[in-house]
Amino acid sequence: MKKTQGSAEERWRDLADGHRIPRLGLGVWQIPNGSECVDAVRWALEVGYRHIDTAQAYGNEDSVGKAVEESGIPREEVFITTKFDPDRDDPVKEAHGSLQRLKVDYIDLYLVHWPRGGPILAWPGMEKAHEQGLARSIGVSNFGSDELGALMSSADIPPVVDQVLLSPFDYREALLEYASDRGIAVEAYSPLGTGKHLKDITVQNIADSVGRTSAQVLLRWAIQHDLIVLPKSTHRDRIEANAQIFDFFLSSSEMGELDALDRTNRSAKALERTWW
Ligand code: A2P
Repeated sequence: MKKTQGSAEERWRDLADGHRIPRLGLGVWQIPNGSECVDAVRWALEVGYRHIDTAQAYGNEDSVGKAVEESGIPREEVFITTKFDPDRDDPVKEAHGSLQRLKVDYIDLYLVHWPRGGPILAWPGMEKAHEQGLARSIGVSNFGSDELGALMSSADIPPVVDQVLLSPFDYREALLEYASDRGIAVEAYSPLGTGKHLKDITVQNIADSVGRTSAQVLLRWAIQHDLIVLPKSTHRDRIEANAQIFDFFLSSSEMGELDALDRTNRSAKALERTWW
């Protein structure tokens, strides 16, 4: 039977450590600290988002914290991710800084932003941040399968999340399989290709045939691949529309057409070229 209605469970993903995370989050990469970021987070919370993804390196944790605080939504109802800036030395010290800027007393999910200095370097500090109650869940970002493997073989506490550049054009199927086999939830950043993929003709044709926007189709593709998805927008109408992805379904042939857009050759890497 063709599913037309997204199930309630689809809105959440269980993590291997027993916590759960909303499937949809607002990504705030490249939104400057200040009113633009406060507004984006405020609007997202108003239209029902309960998951905000920021990072120490984005420089906008202050604005995220202000918007969450001003929303009046109880802290435990909003899932906040931030990322350790691995250009710094100490994940525990930097977590304290994040907590202050975010105006909260715990981080829901704390990620190593990229594997600077190798996949293991920051991890003992991340484990400490978790043990000290600063972060409920810990994970990584921009780690490929080799890096995940190296980390898992030395970690006391395994990472529960890997946040990676993912879209139909950056499918990384081997990395998704690797993570899935090991119980690591995968999050998609730049799921719209920072906007570039919205004009793709295949995406547009599928959007027309299902009566949705290109953005909704790209986000829905991520949901149907069991990903957590983190679109960014600073426009209220787009933020709202990007959340309407749990009430329609892409067929297996539509998913297949999107999968075929992959330019990574089903890679197990996190990125084709690294910036570190
Ligand atoms: P803006 O912030 O001006 O709304 P990604 O999530 O892949 O990083 O993509 C973010 C980019 O896509 C931003 O430039 C954002 O622009 C744009 N964008 C986000 N949602 C939509 C949408 N529904 N329609 C058109 N553009 C969008």
